[in-house]
Amino acid sequence: MTDRKKAEEEIQMDWGMKNRLSRMIKPATGRSVMLACDHGYFMGPTNKLENPRKTIEPLLPYADTLAVTRGVLRNCVDPKWDTPILLRVSGGSSILKDDLGDEEITASMKDAVRLNVAAVALSIFVGTAHEKQTLVNLSKLVDEGGEYGMPVMAITAVGKELDKRDAKYLALACRLAAEIGVQVVKTYYCEDFTKVVNGCPVPLVVAGGPKLNTEEDVFNLAFNAVREGAVGVDMGRNIWQNENPVAMIKGIRAIVHENANVREALQVFNENKKTPSTQRIENPIHA
Ligand code: R5P
Repeated sequence: MTDRKKAEEEIQMDWGMKNRLSRMIKPATGRSVMLACDHGYFMGPTNKLENPRKTIEPLLPYADTLAVTRGVLRNCVDPKWDTPILLRVSGGSSILKDDLGDEEITASMKDAVRLNVAAVALSIFVGTAHEKQTLVNLSKLVDEGGEYGMPVMAITAVGKELDKRDAKYLALACRLAAEIGVQVVKTYYCEDFTKVVNGCPVPLVVAGGPKLNTEEDVFNLAFNAVREGAVGVDMGRNIWQNENPVAMIKGIRAIVHENANVREALQVFNENKKTPSTQRIENPIHA
């Protein structure tokens, strides 16, 4: 980092903000594996996340950050676990609505501080009927975050319009979030992802999206995103909807923190996936 950049960073962030960010984005590598488990806030009991505690607990040792709502945090996450929390603070629409963008802030900054979280996250829906509302929500959150030393992550959500995920759209949405003053952006990987990275002066992580066909597809996504400038992933379904979630997150970690390539990540996955015999031991029904 140049002296100037360092100085700029000093001016922009106070100690609490920097400390919280460095709990999530690990200083040793400058990267992060965030585990996204906040889907229930609009999707209800999502497949394989029906019992959040059961899904989360085995994966936590490999997650740099856990993304959840305050309801799941209070009911399903042991306060003795020390993984930093990324708290989802936007919501207001369910999967039953065609337009998912009609969101407001659903948890206060005071509660986020009380819960001792490392950052708060809010979705913006750029280009929709709720564009202004969600951008203003974000601005309010950034103002409050500044007051409390709480980093804010913007999520460039696309609702049900998954084909919106191209570089032109995502570059616009990420830049808008950065201009409002967020500390981190979560977006999607796409073709020409470097355009998204180059236009966004704050760190980016990528979501995984709906479950992909193969482990190799997931590792390719993570590998390309990091190679092209993302500081990591905030991934959910492609980890915990896999038959071998721990093996999956270990493969992702190898890419994000150890610069493993896709072949090496697959090797990590294969070494850690359950063999038929361990599956039998763990599940007495098959014993
Ligand atoms: C949507 O519910 C959230 O923003 C998720 O945290 C985000 O989509 C990442 O999860 P996934 O990798 O399953 O897309």
